[in-house]
Amino acid sequence: MFSVLMPNSTEQKAGKTDWKKVRLDFPILEQQVHGHPLVYLDNAATSQKPKPVLDALLHYYECDNSNVHRGIHELSNRATAAYEGARKRAARFINAGNAHEIVFTRGTTEGINLVAQAWGTAHLKAGDKILLTEMEHHSNIVPWQLLAARTGAKLSYVPVTGDEGLLDLSRIDTLLSDGVKIFSMTHISNTLGTINPVAELCAKARSMGVVTLVDAAQSAGHLPVDVQEIGCDFLAFSGHKICGPTGIGVLYGREDILNDTPPYQGGGEMISSVDFFKTSWNVIPHKFEAGTPNIADAIGLHAAMDYLDTIGRETIFQHDGQLASHALRRLSEIEGIRLFGPPPGSPRGGLVSFLLPEVHAHDVITIADQYGVALRGGHHCNQPLMRKLGIQSTSRASFYFYNTIEEVDRMIDVLRKIQEFFTRGI
Ligand SMILES: Cc1ncc(COP(=O)(O)O)c(C=O)c1O
Repeated sequence: MFSVLMPNSTEQKAGKTDWKKVRLDFPILEQQVHGHPLVYLDNAATSQKPKPVLDALLHYYECDNSNVHRGIHELSNRATAAYEGARKRAARFINAGNAHEIVFTRGTTEGINLVAQAWGTAHLKAGDKILLTEMEHHSNIVPWQLLAARTGAKLSYVPVTGDEGLLDLSRIDTLLSDGVKIFSMTHISNTLGTINPVAELCAKARSMGVVTLVDAAQSAGHLPVDVQEIGCDFLAFSGHKICGPTGIGVLYGREDILNDTPPYQGGGEMISSVDFFKTSWNVIPHKFEAGTPNIADAIGLHAAMDYLDTIGRETIFQHDGQLASHALRRLSEIEGIRLFGPPPGSPRGGLVSFLLPEVHAHDVITIADQYGVALRGGHHCNQPLMRKLGIQSTSRASFYFYNTIEEVDRMIDVLRKIQEFFTRGI
């Protein structure tokens, strides 16, 4: 049987953290929206940014702004040290063996596209297979479809069981053995909250000679992520979902596999020498970072990773889990509600997805917004999964460590009002 690696914390640290104090680091949360205190429950789309991250960005632009790797002047040296320092920090954040296994990207989407375009084009041919799961975000489907169209490779999918949103792994050996070259899977589903047994899946894939990619967009900032423990070949995440700035992300690639991957884009920085007709490449990771990189946001991301690890991702995981369990319990009291994702007691990330009877998700979101409650409704970039479940959309509340039980209760009160309005017109 497959099992999920969960943070092993014996202490209940979430109960000891002063969450009220933590929340003060997020000035954006202290505002009224449509005359109500903001309740921000759209963290799976993007997280809010604490003051230390905002300060790091300001400090960089006020004191150190310069281009990296090229100057021999003081500001350029400082900017280079800070940018490369962020790379070392990212390696530590996911326990990569080497900083040169960290490629800065714009986010998860670009990381997956880089692998599909650069590694995929070089290593796949007609008839090869790309294995995904039915719960993938479009970012982990479309780049592979483009690769399939270029190379003649075929896609196949690990099925999802149904509303409870688990992977049906009963045929995993067959699915993996059938000419599969890469298995790309999400760690935590952004719609279902399912936490997949990625370490065991990567081990199985590796034993069958299949390369693995883990989409850690929903996990990297929510629980400890250790690429050596997971045993993946590639892993991608986005800075903006883990309290960092937008436009910066991380692609981890194992050293040998990155060395065996051709460049993604051409330009400055990624070369070792250029002739009129021929170019040789820089070493990894610079080979994959053409042009002036996103220096400031890498530095902001460094501050975000420091910030999260000061609280502790085990602690964050416990706290988010408590909010999700409370939300599930309260939601299940609403008659006729349809809940998606693993049942209470099963491993689950800090989000809940649901359909209120007789009310379209877009109506839920629009009315909730009038009460200051920010939710998300729609297909969540999971259209194939929605079709499989026979729905078009869900409403989703996604939590982070600055959210509170009181906010979850506010959401439930608002949902009950919406429900009454649609069923009884009051
Ligand atoms: C599971 C998952 N993968 C990939 C992405 C894409 O992330 P980004 O838009 O930051 O590249 C998201 C965004 O919501 C996601 O939830």
